[in-house]
Amino acid sequence: MPSSSHLIHQPSSVPSAVHTAVPSSAPPPPAQPPEPLRAAALNKAGLPRLFDPGLATTIAYTSSITLTHGPSGTLCYRGYPIDQLGKNASFDEVVLLLLYGRLPTTSRLSTYRAVLAHPNNSRIPPSVAAVISSMPRSAHPMSILTAALAAMTGAHSHLDPSIAGQKVYDDPKNVERAIELTMAVFPPLLAQIHAHTTSQQPPRIIPSATASYTERFLTLIRGRIPSSSDVALLDILLLLHADHEQNCSTSAVRHVSSSGASVFTALSSGVGALSGHLHGGAAEAAIEQLAIIGTPAGIPARLAEVRAGRSRLMGFGHRVYRAHDPRAQLLRRYAIALAERGAADDRLLAVAIELERAARADEYFVSRQLFPNVDFYSGIVYRALGFEPKFFTPLFALGRVAGWLAHWKEYLTDKDRRIARPRQHYVGPAGPLRVVPITERVDDTMGQPWATAPAKL
Ligand code: SDX
Repeated sequence: MPSSSHLIHQPSSVPSAVHTAVPSSAPPPPAQPPEPLRAAALNKAGLPRLFDPGLATTIAYTSSITLTHGPSGTLCYRGYPIDQLGKNASFDEVVLLLLYGRLPTTSRLSTYRAVLAHPNNSRIPPSVAAVISSMPRSAHPMSILTAALAAMTGAHSHLDPSIAGQKVYDDPKNVERAIELTMAVFPPLLAQIHAHTTSQQPPRIIPSATASYTERFLTLIRGRIPSSSDVALLDILLLLHADHEQNCSTSAVRHVSSSGASVFTALSSGVGALSGHLHGGAAEAAIEQLAIIGTPAGIPARLAEVRAGRSRLMGFGHRVYRAHDPRAQLLRRYAIALAERGAADDRLLAVAIELERAARADEYFVSRQLFPNVDFYSGIVYRALGFEPKFFTPLFALGRVAGWLAHWKEYLTDKDRRIARPRQHYVGPAGPLRVVPITERVDDTMGQPWATAPAKL
């Protein structure tokens, strides 16, 4: 697999203002993060429960898969820095790293690829294909992917705890089978959804048995063998999106699987969470934002709108990172390198680079530590690969499914595993109120009009 390191070079024409080096004062990630306090112990000691909107500071899980460190903008998978992996490993190698904690040898990797490519594993179950074709062609691909993954539960009921028994995932063979089936079917699933939403014929071509996950996907979606440079570029994109610790969609997968639901149902909830514009849907929103701004001259008005609180700058800001998102820095380099070769939309890129420069000089953004995240430049690279904006988030899922599966697997054997059930701060009527029988109810507004007018038949 040709690595894409030839893309990770700093082209001469990049305006120096966008080189966001990490401030030298940024402390590196702690070698051993401090042991968190256990909330149960605090409550036992009589301290009140903590109210933490969006779980912004709550540690809900223990994990050894991915480290993100806000102050230094560090991102490591199983201890390997993301830029090192980008230069020296393929997406498939990183999938095995996330799932098993170690990088594979060549022979292990080719066996893995052959297993996933095998038709017995990669064939889309007919009932799932029927769900895809039953959806309106105008539906967003993410809504179809959500439905298709949920349908995988019915197609593989031997892996559904509701059918096969509550202890089905106690058998490691079932866990591995579920992971294998998911990684094998994801490329054809997305290719089928792409064909359905673009009114094209479903893929007929059969990728080579030695093809990588990325090559299988590009072969199916294009109906021909892709160029090695396109495979290398998409491979690095998938690698950068593969995992990101307890983001909204990954913690949704853990949350749903904590009740004993099937893995495919949990993955479907992850796709649902990722589809939101504050999460994976931001890549599509960010490129549309660049198109609406149109030229650098449109930037001041857009920033004024954000400062006035009328909208957010899509592709900017992050819950964890406080210095920079390392993925955004790499994606900017790829976008610039592609544009310099005439392979990317340099008009949009010029707006993106100037928008980043202007925002990072703007007090509103500086005071809130806002900067480009993974979604700010990714769309320019996806477009260079020929994808339409509504397919950007499915491409995000194509990479992130590896992280979702790694976290699902890790949580199955977590000693702290419990059904997720947060508490609340109740502010409703004190009660107990007396129920007045409907025959006696004359005024149903209780001093306030109904939120919407009663339905008119
Ligand atoms: C991803 O969690 C992950 O790891 C996610 C992800 C992954 O790999 O899984 O990294 C992928 O989802 C990246 C994020 C993509 N989303 C966007 O680009 C949407 C725009 N960004 C934001 O909405 C926001 O920055 C979030 C959702 C990313 C983070 O939200 P937080 O941590 O809840 O931040 P916040 O809403 O509390 O904002 C703090 C302040 C607020 O201002 P004040 O109320 O203090 O005045 O910063 C402002 C916000 O209004 N703010 C923004 C902003 N992001 C935050 N203002 C304008 N534009 C923005 N983008």
